[in-house]
Amino acid sequence: MSGGRYVLFGQPVANSLSPRIHAEFARQSSIALDYRTQETSVEQFSGALDAFVRAGGAGANVTQPLKALAFNAAATHGKAAARAGVVNTLTRRDDRWHGDNTDGAGLVRDLAERRGLDLRGRQVLLLGAGGASAGVLPALLDAGVESVTLVNRTLQRAEQLAERHDLPARLHVRKWEDLATLGAFDCVIDATSVGHLGGAMTLPFAIVGTRALAVSLSYGAAAAQFIGWARAAGCSDVHDGLGMLIEQAAESFAIWHGVRPDTVPVHAALEAGRGEAALLATD
Ligand code: ATR
Repeated sequence: MSGGRYVLFGQPVANSLSPRIHAEFARQSSIALDYRTQETSVEQFSGALDAFVRAGGAGANVTQPLKALAFNAAATHGKAAARAGVVNTLTRRDDRWHGDNTDGAGLVRDLAERRGLDLRGRQVLLLGAGGASAGVLPALLDAGVESVTLVNRTLQRAEQLAERHDLPARLHVRKWEDLATLGAFDCVIDATSVGHLGGAMTLPFAIVGTRALAVSLSYGAAAAQFIGWARAAGCSDVHDGLGMLIEQAAESFAIWHGVRPDTVPVHAALEAGRGEAALLATD
């Protein structure tokens, strides 16, 4: 079966594990797939997407910093993308782009279904208000968390994200400068791109209790700083975003090819290769 041309747009993406994951899913399903990465800045995205259409592109994944632009590029949107306002999966249909968002489903599938972590009743601190944060927020709320406190370096961006969801009792926005005074959360999710940009982020230990779950939405080298902090802070469950990456890829694969791949062997293979993955930058 021929699967067509697919691409991951973003910056940085050169060392992303996504091509390997999609190649493995394609092998399982006997689909001949061409999935590549394309380093793409905000300025380049529109032209890159047009060129991809001319080259016969069938679908694209989109990562930082392009997820809001991908939403605007799509003529139609799936339910999760419409709620999130950001798109990580574009599908060519009837000469137009259809936008979906599989990040939230991927995160909850990894944490709740695969790892058996109960998200219900959690008080979540969500760091960042960019494309990754917007993508997972609706799924976290649906998973039954008690509250989500959004904290972003640029306060206005967090306020705009919160305004999309009319849930004043469950969704709170606080200033980054006030992090140390917010009390202890039992789930902290790092949805910033600090790790990809090579920046430093100083977080107070006071934001977590000892039974806290800490999750980075990045993986490999890009997650290392937050993972190190979470362990030092004494969090009881600490995970990077490799599991989410695989699960969101499976959701995208199902949208594109109509086949739900088996993620179990892919988790096993990539977990086994973690030493290698840790040396790579990530998407
Ligand atoms: P992504 O798709 O990965 O979310 P993005 O949309 O570019 O990428 O968003 C990046 C997020 O990381 C933003 O929340 C950004 O904060 P600002 O809105 O203030 O820019 C956050 N971020 C990036 N560098 C950061 C840093 N050094 N400290 C704190 N937050 C940072």
